[in-house]
Formats: sequence, C-alpha cells, structure tokens
Amino acid sequence: MRRRRRPAPSVGRPIAAIENGTVTPEELAKLRSRGCLVVRGHFPREQALAWDRDIVDYVEGNQFFDNYRGPGDADSAGLGTHLDPGTLDLWMTTAYQKAFRHLFDGTIEQYDPWDAAHRTSGPQYPGSTMCSAFRTFQGWTALSDMDHDQGVLHTVPIPEAMVYLMLRPLLDDIADDDMCGVTVNQVFPANEKLHPLLLEALSGIPDVKAGDSVWWHADMIHSVAPIVDQQGWGNVMYIPAAPWCPRNEKYAASVLEAFRTGSSPGDFPEEHYERQWSNRFQETDLNDTGRRGLGIN
Ligand SMILES: [Fe+2]
Repeated sequence: MRRRRRPAPSVGRPIAAIENGTVTPEELAKLRSRGCLVVRGHFPREQALAWDRDIVDYVEGNQFFDNYRGPGDADSAGLGTHLDPGTLDLWMTTAYQKAFRHLFDGTIEQYDPWDAAHRTSGPQYPGSTMCSAFRTFQGWTALSDMDHDQGVLHTVPIPEAMVYLMLRPLLDDIADDDMCGVTVNQVFPANEKLHPLLLEALSGIPDVKAGDSVWWHADMIHSVAPIVDQQGWGNVMYIPAAPWCPRNEKYAASVLEAFRTGSSPGDFPEEHYERQWSNRFQETDLNDTGRRGLGIN
C-alpha cells in the first residue's frame, strides 16, 4: 500500500495561546480526537540553536561518536510503525486490565484514552523497551529546522486506535499463542498486514523550526519516515510530559541516582558514557524545574 501524503493533521498552536489560556474549546476537542500537537515557538529559536551547539560540543568534546557502541543511529533508515506504552503487560497486569476494562466488559464506547486512572502506579514488564514513567504525551523539542520531507515523525492521529490494537490479537484469524507480534523486549509493532485500516491514516508532521515542540498521546502508533537525500541534521531533545504520580516519583528517584554518577538511567542500555566525562552536568547546575523533576526539594 502506498503511504498517503496527506496534509499534516496535527493541531499547531503558538506557545502564547497555551500560556495565556486562549486555546479554544474547539481546539481542545480537536486535540483530544487527534492526540497530537505542534507547539510553535515553545522556546526561542536562538535558545534552541544554542542548546544544539552546546550538546554537539559536549558529545564531540568527549569523543562520543568514537566510543558509541549502541545500535546504529540510522538517520536515514527511518523507524517502522510502532507504539511505546508497553507490551504483554498491557493485557496481563491488573493495573492495565483496569485501565482497559471498557474494552473487555462490553462498554467499549466508554473507553477514554485520556483517562489516566490505573495508569499511574502499576508496574511494567521489565525489558529493554519498557518505559517506567507514566507519560501523558510523548514529546520532543526541535533543535534544528526540519522540513516535512526530511524523515520526520509520522503518527496515526487516533488515540482511540488502542481499542483496535488491543482487541486485534483476540480475533479468529490470529493463533491463540500469537499477540500480533507483541512480546517483551520488543516494541509493540503495528503493520500493514494486521492493521491496514489504521495505517491508512499515517500522516507526517508539518515543517518545524528550532524551538517548536511536538507532542503525541503515548498510546499512538508512530514512525520516523526513511529519507533518501538528507539536508543537514535533524536534532531533537526527547522530553515527554510526565506528571508527578507514584510511578514517576519512583522513576525520578532512580534517575537522580544515575544523574549523580553519570550513569545511564533505568530503561536505557547500560552504556554509562558520561561517568568519565569531567564536564558533565552537575546537581548544582540544575534550575528549579530540573530539581523539581528529579524530586529534590
Ligand atoms: Fe517510539
């Protein structure tokens, strides 16, 4: 099937509209149904470009690219359609069974992808693809200008598609011991064979500028498009929206411990590059937001 190149469906709003509380009820309703948002000018462009230069100087000054031993960071190969909220734990743990109860008890119309109940304290199955934190949105901030044809993020802008994804393995054409390829230690796949109707909606984000931020519901299918003729770098900082809750309080404590020693935090490969980097960020460099995020009061 050919990917449709339809106009990007994301809601795009300047940061001032959010700060001033002038986002309209109609725009909020659109966000609830589409699950994704581009915030224009979230940070001043010059600040984002300065962050980009700082990070590049930091990693290059510490010979990161000579020592990197993780999976190849394929700027050009893209990333297939998948979602990140969990794997088999979505069906198997008590907390998620409660979060998705309407899918299985005959009240499917009442399922609300924005209802956070039972999502903020339950465990996840351990594995290299787990996310210990509870995220109301996945998100990143652009540190470079990126045109829409430069291998950007694509989403299926339907948060309620989780209903389809969760029920799909239970249909008759799927073997009893197959969960449509979902298994621990691998991202939750979505594909043309099993989810063709959903993938018809796969749509790319519009052009973004350094300082814009992009947000999408953490249950949503997404991908990064492959690219043939890349023009420059497309750097982003992945920073989701993670409200204070039992799951995030626990994870923040483990991140603080890792931060103090320059170790890789939980949920990430144990590569620990920064332990020996003398100019790494210190606790005394944190501002109030950073201190609060790590649970330091
Ligand atoms: Fe992802």
